[in-house]
Amino acid sequence: MKKTVLLKVDPQAPDIEKVRVAARFIRSGGLVAFPTETVYGLGADALNATAVLALFEAKKRPLDNPPIVHICDVKDVYRVAQEVPAMAEELMRLFWPGPLTLILKRSRIVPDVAVAGLDTIAVRMPRHSVALALIRESQCPISAPSANLAGKPSPTTAKHVLDDLDGRIDAVLDGGPTVVGVESTVLDVTVDPPQVLRPGGTLFEVLKEVLGGVELNPAVTAERPVPVEKARSPGLKHKHYAPDADVVVVEGELSAIVGKVNELAMFYMRRGSRVGVLCTDETAGFYRADVVKSLGSRSDMGSVAQSLFARLREFDLESVDVIVAEGVPLEGLGLAVMNRLRRAAGYNIVKAS
Ligand code: TXA
Ligand code: MG
Repeated sequence: MKKTVLLKVDPQAPDIEKVRVAARFIRSGGLVAFPTETVYGLGADALNATAVLALFEAKKRPLDNPPIVHICDVKDVYRVAQEVPAMAEELMRLFWPGPLTLILKRSRIVPDVAVAGLDTIAVRMPRHSVALALIRESQCPISAPSANLAGKPSPTTAKHVLDDLDGRIDAVLDGGPTVVGVESTVLDVTVDPPQVLRPGGTLFEVLKEVLGGVELNPAVTAERPVPVEKARSPGLKHKHYAPDADVVVVEGELSAIVGKVNELAMFYMRRGSRVGVLCTDETAGFYRADVVKSLGSRSDMGSVAQSLFARLREFDLESVDVIVAEGVPLEGLGLAVMNRLRRAAGYNIVKAS
């Protein structure tokens, strides 16, 4: 067990001395969790193979699933990647700093373990003062997967990080709750047309407008697990986002969803399970279950995305056995929300009609 140091900082104007304490850990091969605009990341020096290996161990993450490399300056892309296409440069100009991760051909300075032996690398520049200050002060690119134990919902507060990783990492920079709430969009620009491997904070609709040709990898909208050999994004092979409770997602027209959710909640309660319903403001009053939680209003998918992982974690704290969750339309941030919900459910999807 390590002693995990908690460093509280102002998310807009972080105390540089505290950031330097965190950066010293990174530079000496340690592990520091930090806020980004999407979720909290668990950082290690991307160029230090031993540190990156420790990162996988702390998270209990399978070694075949590489983390994203975070940088604080566009020119650092050319250190960790090579053959950066003009279209990628345009995307960096438009979307960085921000929740867009680009898959590029890797350079040789990055150790194999940091890219899981692939010839590509995932890179992004986060839009968060604390993250940017940490990278700058550490003077190295930072490998950072989400700061949760592998398989669990991603952390959107420092408390979530400590719930999973207290005693396993050196420090947490606590900059309050994250704003976007779901992870970055992962876009592979080594293929033509470019392909979204994971939907996230940068909307597919916006990428389409900018790029014209861009595809969604079929796994993004899959309604059942993707065969391992077809998983272009290594992360898709593994269990993800799952609370301890079993999850069922109910999809369809909203009016049909309400009836089906109540039917399933009743079914599980009769079986003796403690049942949670995960819903939205518009429908929260219609449900009967042991615990009912709203993600926010359907007219504000930003609030739904922002609270998704926190709500999933709260159900576990309330010892719920089964979560029956409302689906949302696969549009805007709803695409990222549904991708997380379906995977949290292990693709246990019920169609309401
Ligand atoms: O918003 C985010 O992206 C957060 C914050 C901390 O920046 N990070 C994050 O990292 O979500 P992680 O490691 O949990 O997710 C990285 C995703 C995984 O699905 C992984 O499989 C994929 O990116 N990935 C990484 N390298 C890749 C590569 N070379 N090719 C394809 N997919 C890759
Ligand atoms: Mg993750």
